[in-house]
Amino acid sequence: MKKICIKGTGCYIPERIVPNSYFEATVDTSEEWIVSRTGIKERRMVLPGQALSDMATPASKRALEMAGLSPLDLDLIIVGTSTADMASPSAGCMIQHKLGAKNAVAFDVNAACPGFIFGLAVARKFMQDGSHRQVLVIGAEIISHRTDFQDRNTCVLFGDGAGAVVLGLAAREKDGELLSTEIYSDGDLWKLLHVPGGGSMNPISHEMIDQRLHYVKMKGNEVFKHAVRSMIEAAQKALEGSGLTKDQIDWFIPHQANIRIMEAVAKQMDIPVEKVIKTVHKYGNTSAATIPTALDEAVRSGQIKRGHLVLAASFGAGFTSGGVLFRF
Ligand code: UT7
Repeated sequence: MKKICIKGTGCYIPERIVPNSYFEATVDTSEEWIVSRTGIKERRMVLPGQALSDMATPASKRALEMAGLSPLDLDLIIVGTSTADMASPSAGCMIQHKLGAKNAVAFDVNAACPGFIFGLAVARKFMQDGSHRQVLVIGAEIISHRTDFQDRNTCVLFGDGAGAVVLGLAAREKDGELLSTEIYSDGDLWKLLHVPGGGSMNPISHEMIDQRLHYVKMKGNEVFKHAVRSMIEAAQKALEGSGLTKDQIDWFIPHQANIRIMEAVAKQMDIPVEKVIKTVHKYGNTSAATIPTALDEAVRSGQIKRGHLVLAASFGAGFTSGGVLFRF
């Protein structure tokens, strides 16, 4: 069987910058609290009228361009998101339509922040059985639409963004390889982080909206503890069986939720801080988009080069977690 590799990366970052000072003016918080507790200095948010596919489509075009492929070459599109354009159809179908990727089957994977890694794991299965050869995997999210701007516990944390990779079969010796993907769920912990309104349990109604149930609810410090443990476990599982050790890793891309979580994971895994890719200070937590956007930026800035070994790990609502190891 041929190796699966990343042929191209792309991302879209919204233009609107929201600095910490915005929240100082609207809720009881401070620049000092936000920076010292999270590492976030600013985040990006979509403009009114911008939908998920408006970010994911240009991100995908950039990944296709780097891969040297056209949308018609794709046979599968998987979108890791929990904030699709509409309740139905899927974001995948909207992005397929906007790209003109007529030969691809498209669907979404709703796994919250590790949605991109879940997407890679699903894509890998489809490619390993030989049925699909050129696959677009996207991680994209508009969390600002699910953010309660009156809740200081959550509103300072999140941002919007989209990232994408094109997977293909390695044709040359120097092509990289998607070495392992590991994904996990623990539904017992669902209450720690959820959006209660708008689904079948609390359908859309004036009352539901008055109760602000359509916004993210989070027990932040409990999530923190599980985040560190689950990211380490997922990252270690992704390394196991590859025959490689953590000392061989060139870059580590942790989910960008909080600099303290990222540093705790790197420290406990004994990964030098210089190998950790960081974007949380400028984009905040963009959920499923944090890893593919950080990957694309690191590739385009020349940090991650062809041949480098990259480990990424994420965690999120569900409770879900995932790890991926690849040679770029
Ligand atoms: O993608 C996965 C999504 N979720 C996460 O990754 C979240 C993981 N958790 C975290 O990142 C951190 O737990 C937070 C940043 C959310 C909170 O930091 P913390 O150090 O765990 O603070 P805390 O929740 O223990 O709260 C400490 C204090 C509380 O005040 P009291 O009860 O001690 O008086 C909070 O009310 O900080 C208060 N607080 C704030 N103060 C100023 C909470 N949010 C704010 C705020 N500004 N924005």
